[in-house]
Amino acid sequence: MKCDVLTLFPDILTAYLKESILKRAQEKGLLDVKLYNIRDFSSGPHRTVDDAPYGGGAGMVLKPEPIYRAMDFLRKDNENRKVILLSPQGKPFRQSTAETYSKEERRFVFICGRYEGVDERVRDLADEEVSIGDFVLTGGELAALVIIDAVTRLVPGALGDEKSKEDESFSWGLLDYPHYTRPREFRGMKVPDVLVSGDHKEIWLWRRREALKKTLRMRPDLMEKVELTELDKKILSDIKEE
Ligand code: ADE
Repeated sequence: MKCDVLTLFPDILTAYLKESILKRAQEKGLLDVKLYNIRDFSSGPHRTVDDAPYGGGAGMVLKPEPIYRAMDFLRKDNENRKVILLSPQGKPFRQSTAETYSKEERRFVFICGRYEGVDERVRDLADEEVSIGDFVLTGGELAALVIIDAVTRLVPGALGDEKSKEDESFSWGLLDYPHYTRPREFRGMKVPDVLVSGDHKEIWLWRRREALKKTLRMRPDLMEKVELTELDKKILSDIKEE
């Protein structure tokens, strides 16, 4: 994944990008993130980036000029880009969106809004407007990080163990099954016997059953979208009888 991030607070992203999987993905050349401070593209002695809204009302609105200028600057290299505006009004970001983005050849630009919003004309720059959930954040920075993180995990080679991705909750369309590590007994809480049995088929069945149970209890809405196998249907009817 290659991306440029337009933000007023690049340091918010720097800290997260310096650690763990995202750090290693950058070292391996699988992730390339360039941060641009929108303020560097503002004009005038005060380097103003926001202004009061026309029509009145509380709060400030991000001005269009610095963001347009930043885009003009990025476009000088003639690289084809997919521009994403982060905002609570956008299309919901899902695991399926992450999968689509992970196959995208173009470089991304993430425009992080702030304050009460961005001037409506900034929307014309974006190919897509994306939200990470039905809540309002102080700015788009956390949303950009969420997207970069979720997409990078899907880039081949970014995770140490490629299999762990296939086993992840949302790749099954279900919530995750329980995980345990040593010790086998901790403060009276035991690891289920099946996990130490060495019987891989039984372990798989137990995990599938636990994932179905958890999804049914915590996110019944997801159950409507998963493709259930005949075995799943049998497991579910057993669960419901319990
Ligand atoms: N900016 C503020 N809130 C947001 C959200 N929920 N998703 C994406 N960007 C945002």
